Amino acid sequence: MARHSLMVVDKIREADDTCSLRLQLPPDAPDDFCYRPAQFVHVRGMVDGAPVERSYSLSSAPGVDSHFQLTVKKVEGGALSPFLVERVQNGDWLEITEPQGRFFDENQAQPRHYLLFGAGSGISPLFSILKWLLAKDRGDIVTLVYASRCETGIIFRSELDALAVSHPGRLRLIHVLSRPSGNWTGEAGRLDAERIGRLLGERNVAALPEIAYLCGPDAFMSLVAETLEQRGLDPRDIRHESFVMADAVSGDSLDDETTVRIVPAGTPADVSVPHAPQTELTVEIDGEERVILPRAGETILAALQREEIDAPFSCQEGTCLSCMCRVEEGAVRMRRHDLIGLTREDLGEGIALACLSRVEGVRARVSFEDV
Ligand SMILES: Cc1cc2nc3c(=O)[nH]c(=O)nc-3n(C[C@H](O)[C@H](O)[C@H](O)COP(=O)(O)OP(=O)(O)OC[C@H]3O[C@@H](n4cnc5c(N)ncnc54)[C@H](O)[C@@H]3O)c2cc1C
Ligand code: FES
Repeated sequence: MARHSLMVVDKIREADDTCSLRLQLPPDAPDDFCYRPAQFVHVRGMVDGAPVERSYSLSSAPGVDSHFQLTVKKVEGGALSPFLVERVQNGDWLEITEPQGRFFDENQAQPRHYLLFGAGSGISPLFSILKWLLAKDRGDIVTLVYASRCETGIIFRSELDALAVSHPGRLRLIHVLSRPSGNWTGEAGRLDAERIGRLLGERNVAALPEIAYLCGPDAFMSLVAETLEQRGLDPRDIRHESFVMADAVSGDSLDDETTVRIVPAGTPADVSVPHAPQTELTVEIDGEERVILPRAGETILAALQREEIDAPFSCQEGTCLSCMCRVEEGAVRMRRHDLIGLTREDLGEGIALACLSRVEGVRARVSFEDV
């Protein structure tokens, strides 16, 4: 992944512990920074002399905002977010990768009713999606349910209110505060299944088909996803973005019930590959071919990182789809994941996620090109 030095040109306080950073795009790399709604970048900052890298979603919308913006909420005790929120100033430089990620699918065949559910800083990619949808005027309508702690914790409050006023028939904005002040007249308390049902009302199957985008803590997203499935939404129409990194996948617990075998397109899935104590993996990436020796139980992504090969990744838990690769020879075994964004068709075409997959057999070949 190429990195670019971008200068912070504006820092905006959005809420108690959250600020947006507007970055100046390099004049020499405009194509690299063409982005899709809700993509994210890796940000590398020098904190007390040491590099620290984390992912941040773009809260700006392509074709709508003239600025390129990230929005960071401070995590107490965290390495990078307190630095970005408290110490970075206008004129400072940050190392940024090109935008990546496939959270939002902008190619829908027909107008949809978008159900956006965000909590805390999870509003960041949803704000990008929301602005993009409203600007496109394709006949879509949007309901945004946004959970915050209290009034001063609502990120983008004035911009969201302005969008609701300027798009009365197309945007329904519902704030839910868990600890509001005494003056709050809106929704207060926890967002639970009963409240979601009440806020959305009966599902009208004759109305625009619903599609949901969720971003917030994992427990929040699981609750919303379960409730929406009970409402009748197809799980493939419920997309989520997780901000929390999981521990690297350990190969020890992998067995057939928790994994799926992925082979090149057109190859029988049960084609046998000899068991091997040592595997060899050929990787096609950034126009080059590299041969590496993954260790027992090591994921493809972990092996690439150990070899300092710059493979795309973010969540490391199978949700962001950044690390998609195509199996071209041999077989890999991928940990199943309840909320995984790959389809059966993807698996049939040999698509795997490097962060969840291990090589099976003596040798395999995967490509990160044109996936
Ligand atoms: C695809 C993606 C997009 C993201 N987009 C955004 C964004 O738009 N805005 C944003 O503010 N953050 C975003 N994040 C989260 C961000 O990458 C960092 O994880 C977060 O800022 C904490 O980093 P840190 O270095 O301050 O904390 P760390 O030093 O990584 O962690 C410190 C402690 O906080 C816990 N922790 C880590 N992240 C969180 C969290 N999000 N909430 C609560 N506890 C946490 C850790 O488990 C650890 O115990 C995104 C993450 C991903 C994977
Ligand atoms: S790194 Fe996010 S799916 Fe693999």
